[in-house]
Amino acid sequence: MRVAVVGAGYVGLVTAACLAELGHDVTAVEQDRRKLQLLEARTCPIHEELLPGLMEKHWGKTLYFTASLQDAMQQAQVVFICVATPASHNGSTDLSCLDAVVREISKLLQHKVLLVEKSTVPVRTCDAIRQTLISGGAHPEQFAVACNPEFLREGTAVVDFLVPDRIVIGTDDEFSREILRDLYSPLTSGQYYKHPESVAGGGARRPQLIDTSVRSAELIKHAANAFLAMKIAFINGVANLAEAYRADIDDVCHGLGADRRIGPHFLRAGLGFGGACLPKDVRAFAAMAQQSDYSFPLLAATTKMNQRQRLLFARKVQKALGSVRGRQIACLGVAFKAGTDDVRNSPAIDIIKQLVSRGARISAFDPAASQKASQELAGLGVSFEVDPYQAMDGADALVILTEWPEFGSLDLARVRGLLQRPLIVDGRNMYSPETMRKAGFSYWSCGREPVLSQPVTARRSAGDPPTLLSMIPSLESVSVTQRTGGP
Ligand code: UGA
Repeated sequence: MRVAVVGAGYVGLVTAACLAELGHDVTAVEQDRRKLQLLEARTCPIHEELLPGLMEKHWGKTLYFTASLQDAMQQAQVVFICVATPASHNGSTDLSCLDAVVREISKLLQHKVLLVEKSTVPVRTCDAIRQTLISGGAHPEQFAVACNPEFLREGTAVVDFLVPDRIVIGTDDEFSREILRDLYSPLTSGQYYKHPESVAGGGARRPQLIDTSVRSAELIKHAANAFLAMKIAFINGVANLAEAYRADIDDVCHGLGADRRIGPHFLRAGLGFGGACLPKDVRAFAAMAQQSDYSFPLLAATTKMNQRQRLLFARKVQKALGSVRGRQIACLGVAFKAGTDDVRNSPAIDIIKQLVSRGARISAFDPAASQKASQELAGLGVSFEVDPYQAMDGADALVILTEWPEFGSLDLARVRGLLQRPLIVDGRNMYSPETMRKAGFSYWSCGREPVLSQPVTARRSAGDPPTLLSMIPSLESVSVTQRTGGP
């Protein structure tokens, strides 16, 4: 099938390369000259596993790049719209790029085309696209509009596209439904997975096809991201309680996730969610609810808890060190998660800023995101080192901020030798407390009791959790109130 993809950003580029991999003839349109030059030179402009290989495989055969929407649309049956939908000042979605593209498309329609919305947009955006096309002069017979939301995670986007749990197609007419079913049939029939060269290596479960209306598809995308965000905020709340009550969050997650109604995924406690999607989408979903006069307080609470998690972690570093003023702190990781060079809304960046504002000096290392982070942190005196050991040389503490796998297999004897004192504060729970105890470190992590290389004093301080004995009076007072105040 001939496909045009408008916008070769993160979602557009992955979509274009993966559709080429499925045997379609794809032209991606990119207006940014610098990015287009890279693409024309076969260079992948983003850090994304497997994407350079796919680009190399299909470039110039079934995958093309151009600046001209008109050229790309000439014979296309389907046009995927993958332009940015950033947040506006009040948290709602800024649809101006999308609007501009749709206006342009309305002038270029020559044969019937299916326009597919892939960016994350408020419910009813596809209705607005139809209206814009008509007011731009397009005839309703010349187009159809569908929604096919993406569920791509940065770092694993190619696998997420080609080996998904489900493919959601939101259509309101047979023309659109048939085209989208056809387009994805190599995946839904299982045909693609039979190729030994497929990214699944010749074996994967066929994805479920969720065939629904346009509006339901738009809502599925928002609900999915909000639910994932809520799950993370929730588990971090539980982790904070686990710390206060000296339980172990790993065991709690195990016990919680074994219930199939809950599931074990997205229950990693730590610094909370960051990135270009979850924080923005939760706020946009809340704004959407507000516009429909429905208050959805869970969403605002999710955002608030997530922000607070970063603050609590910075305080934890401060508590572990006594004071951070004048201390040198080695920070491992600045990307918002492992597998990407993206630092947008990264918890690591926020935490480094907080530590600097409290007087700390930071030496940092990230295997992919140092360059982007150095722009974000310009003027704060943060030094970026070429390997993790150089960052920690002479530091007062080591702080782990991104879950890059290599940070979980450091040479601990070497780390001990380089640090001024054996102190690690781990925002991603990369080590077991037992390993750290044996290696002689003080080790603070999330939702687990800290390992202190100095023995803790037995005396109970104000911040310690209440004992069962100290709770008994309050339980009594509850039952008294119930007895006297009840009906
Ligand atoms: C997210 C969704 O997972 C995708 O399904 C969606 O398509 C995408 O947004 C989007 O809307 O474009 P992404 O932002 O790439 O993908 O990253 P995630 O893997 O979801 O991680 C988001 C954040 O949550 C990261 O900061 C990560 O460290 C954090 N996280 C994730 C946790 O703190 N705990 C977990 O258990 C999982």
